[in-house]
Amino acid sequence: MHIDILTLFPNMFESPFGDSIIKRAIEKKAVAIDLHNIRDYTLSKQKSVDEYAFGGGAGMVMQIEPIDLCMEKLKAEKDYDEIIYLSPDGELFDQKMANMLSTKKNLMFLCGHYKGVDERVREHLITKEISIGDYVLTGGELATAVVVDAIVRLIPGVLSDETSALSDSFQDDLISPPVYTRPSEYKGWKVPEILLSGHQAKIEEWRHEQSIERTKKRRPDLLK
Ligand code: ADE
Repeated sequence: MHIDILTLFPNMFESPFGDSIIKRAIEKKAVAIDLHNIRDYTLSKQKSVDEYAFGGGAGMVMQIEPIDLCMEKLKAEKDYDEIIYLSPDGELFDQKMANMLSTKKNLMFLCGHYKGVDERVREHLITKEISIGDYVLTGGELATAVVVDAIVRLIPGVLSDETSALSDSFQDDLISPPVYTRPSEYKGWKVPEILLSGHQAKIEEWRHEQSIERTKKRRPDLLK
């Protein structure tokens, strides 16, 4: 998979993509992630990328030209499955959307800032709009990092134990069962007996029951 990210703040991605599983996925070439600074595409002498909104009002609006020029360059090199804009008014991101996007070849993400982007970007250049939740972040960078993380870990070969993505919470509309490790007793707090029994079939049955109980209690909406 190839991911291109258009941003005014490329440094914000250093840490989320520079450690742990995503770093290894990049090293293994399961995914390539390229960051593009939108400011490099402005034709204005002052290097400006934003302007006051027509009609007035507080906040700056990201201009269409540098965004379009950057996208034009990338689109001449690759065909994109989706060109995604992160915005609190987009479609709510969930595991199903992560699964769907993880099967794609080329994805482009546009991170907005300030008051957002000129609406014509959304009308003419964007193919999908995603929100990661009903709250407002300072910009699309952290939201993009969340979406990219959720997608990349699903690419075959990225997780060492491939079945572990299949048993994630939400994959079958159920929350994952609890997990325990050594010691089997700590401060008198004991691990459920069944997990120490060695009966694999019974353990799986117990885990499934726990998943259902947890989902009923914590996320009954998933069972509908
Ligand atoms: N940009 C700002 N807030 C956001 C959110 N909640 N989801 C996606 N992009 C955003």
